[in-house]
Amino acid sequence: MIHYKELGLVNSRELFKKAMEGGYAIPAFNFNNLEQLQAIISACVETKSPVILQVSKGARKYANQTLLQYLAKGAVEYAKELGYAIPIVLHLDHGDSFETCKSCVETGFSSVMIDGSHLPYEENIKVTRQVVEFAHQFDVTVEGELGVLAGIEDEVSAEHSHYTRPEEVEDFVNRTGVDSLAISIGTSHGAYKFKVKPGETPPPLRFDILEEVERRLPWFPIVLHGASSVPQDIVDEINRYGGKLENTAGVSEEQLRRAARSAVCKINIDSDGRLAVTAAVRKVLSEKPGEFDPRNYLGPAREKLKELYKHKIINVLGSAGKA
Ligand code: G3H
Ligand code: 13P
Ligand code: ZN
Repeated sequence: MIHYKELGLVNSRELFKKAMEGGYAIPAFNFNNLEQLQAIISACVETKSPVILQVSKGARKYANQTLLQYLAKGAVEYAKELGYAIPIVLHLDHGDSFETCKSCVETGFSSVMIDGSHLPYEENIKVTRQVVEFAHQFDVTVEGELGVLAGIEDEVSAEHSHYTRPEEVEDFVNRTGVDSLAISIGTSHGAYKFKVKPGETPPPLRFDILEEVERRLPWFPIVLHGASSVPQDIVDEINRYGGKLENTAGVSEEQLRRAARSAVCKINIDSDGRLAVTAAVRKVLSEKPGEFDPRNYLGPAREKLKELYKHKIINVLGSAGKA
């Protein structure tokens, strides 16, 4: 067993409390490789933002569990080396079972999500409660989910979203003991969040549901998944350099800023980072067809990612200067 404190990590409890009081949200950025991690840490150090490093089940498989531990420890040291020791949470994104969550707790994660949102209500409560009982013994914080986002929830494909039913949230939180709750108010995973024709605006988020959840769970940390904005300039760049992404759409940054001022304490962004990397790599390879040193296309990708993260932190989440 490696405890997260040995790696220099923190859990999310204190960060969420401060975010709630301060009207901002903590960035939860997914990573799978070294360049993504470097971009996240350097962006957060330069803006003095706390951060949640998110690892999905797919990322664990891709990056290797042992390497992940050392990468997380390395991230803590890297931040210090860059000049500022930001608080870093290592979080399991969309944990699919008690066993996956247990294995993460035992290998240095400071926070886990158990995603039982696709299960019948009582089964969701049962597995979430089981994870909480185990994780809390080690002071690891737990995120649960109620309501289903459209798009892909890791390996669970949700054709249509089911908004969170506010009448369930108190019972769920009381019976499971979770530390935070992901809700479905109209966001969705991936780069194709809404079926829109060119020029059309996606439907607004259901702030009425969020407000009702806040009324029933005062001062309780809420999480938004599927919060990429799918920036049109980045999509255009991908397409200009040989890509083919059509009819993409994301959540407007104005709405995310509004959400960050509320009880929403954690905002998950993955797809926007994937798009930034793809645009930068395509640009280099298209402009310099003779290039074959990965550092010369992954380096610019890392730079573009860092700029994207800084923009999110400063202009969308409001977490700059809060570390
Ligand atoms: O919500 C899902 C995240 O974007 C992670 O995606 O399972 O492809 O790593 P992944
Ligand atoms: P996006 O696909 O909108 O970036 O959402 C990421 C996410 O929710 C990770 O859990
Ligand atoms: Zn998600």
